[in-house]
Amino acid sequence: MLAARLNETSNKDLLSVSDLCTWFELRKWGFGRAGFVRAVDGLSFDLSYGEAIAIVGESGCGKSTLAKTILGLHHPTKGEIIFEGKPISAARMRQRQDYRSCLGYVQQDPYGALAPFMNVRRILTEPLVINGISDRGERENRIREVLEDVKLSPPDEFLGKFPHMLSGGQQQRLVIARAIILRPGLIVADEPVSMLDASVRVEVLELLRQLQQIHSLSLIYITHDLATVRFFSERVFVMYAGKLIEKAVTSSLLSNPYHPYTRALIAAISDPDPANVDTFKEVPPGEPPSLLNPPSGCRFHPRCPSMISGLCEQEEPSEFTVRPSHSVMCWLYR
Ligand SMILES: Nc1ncnc2c1ncn2[C@@H]1O[C@H](COP(=O)(O)OP(=O)(O)OP(=O)(O)O)[C@@H](O)[C@H]1O
Ligand SMILES: [Mg+2]
Repeated sequence: MLAARLNETSNKDLLSVSDLCTWFELRKWGFGRAGFVRAVDGLSFDLSYGEAIAIVGESGCGKSTLAKTILGLHHPTKGEIIFEGKPISAARMRQRQDYRSCLGYVQQDPYGALAPFMNVRRILTEPLVINGISDRGERENRIREVLEDVKLSPPDEFLGKFPHMLSGGQQQRLVIARAIILRPGLIVADEPVSMLDASVRVEVLELLRQLQQIHSLSLIYITHDLATVRFFSERVFVMYAGKLIEKAVTSSLLSNPYHPYTRALIAAISDPDPANVDTFKEVPPGEPPSLLNPPSGCRFHPRCPSMISGLCEQEEPSEFTVRPSHSVMCWLYR
């Protein structure tokens, strides 16, 4: 059983990412290469067995590219991914397939993630067959067990249904069931509730959190909504223009944000009290930068209210440790 295996090795990192870059080449018609979109640009972090982390950032900062690179769907341009002590970037085809079967992927759009012509039984059978589980009885037991796990219960009511016969929340539960049916060590959930009705978002997030804890799964939760991370993750990494600009345990990040961008994100969390509407004034003006020609020095400097002239626009900040388990890439803390 995977959980037992995880407990045995709980003192080690499950995943270690160092200096990871994923760049997309952009070609101009008739004029050759236009450059590279640096969607992920030199990221490093570790993830322990059973740990949940959140990656937060605004649209286009490279979150999904990072997710897909970890999942082996994009080939990294540079850097290393080490999973259970083995380097993945340089792995052979067979090892890559084994690696992928250790990961579960929960996409943003549940309907788009499910083949419309397959019923629930076929959707859940497919990964089992691909991964060599040939015994029909075992497959049936696993399918029923996982449907109970994601609360699509009783299973008989759902097995013959096609995706269009399920509500958005039920579709996302099915995507989660498919992601965990092979008992992976790590789930990557990329904005898992952003396309769902507000009424079912909390339910689906709670389900993910419960499954993560019951099965001792590691989880990378990707979101642009900082308001949900308190409930979801032990650490938070803030991403801006392809870089991780602040990393901290969740309580420290939410109560003591250091980077001006993180402070703006926290100030922008909607507050239902109209008396607090002034906090919105702290959000810095301007658009997220182009990843094709990112700003020199600190990528946030054109929008930063605290920019240090002569430094921030010229030199990229290093990672400074500001508190235990809290680091920030910002010259203000040099
Ligand atoms: N396959 C690709 N080819 C070229 N450019 C790409 C590709 N995939 C992503 N990009 C570019 O990389 C950048 C980061 O995209 P990504 O989808 O990772 O952002 P994101 O943070 O997930 O955004 P969102 O919150 O809107 O989902 C964008 O500029 C995007 O246009
Ligand atoms: Mg995305």
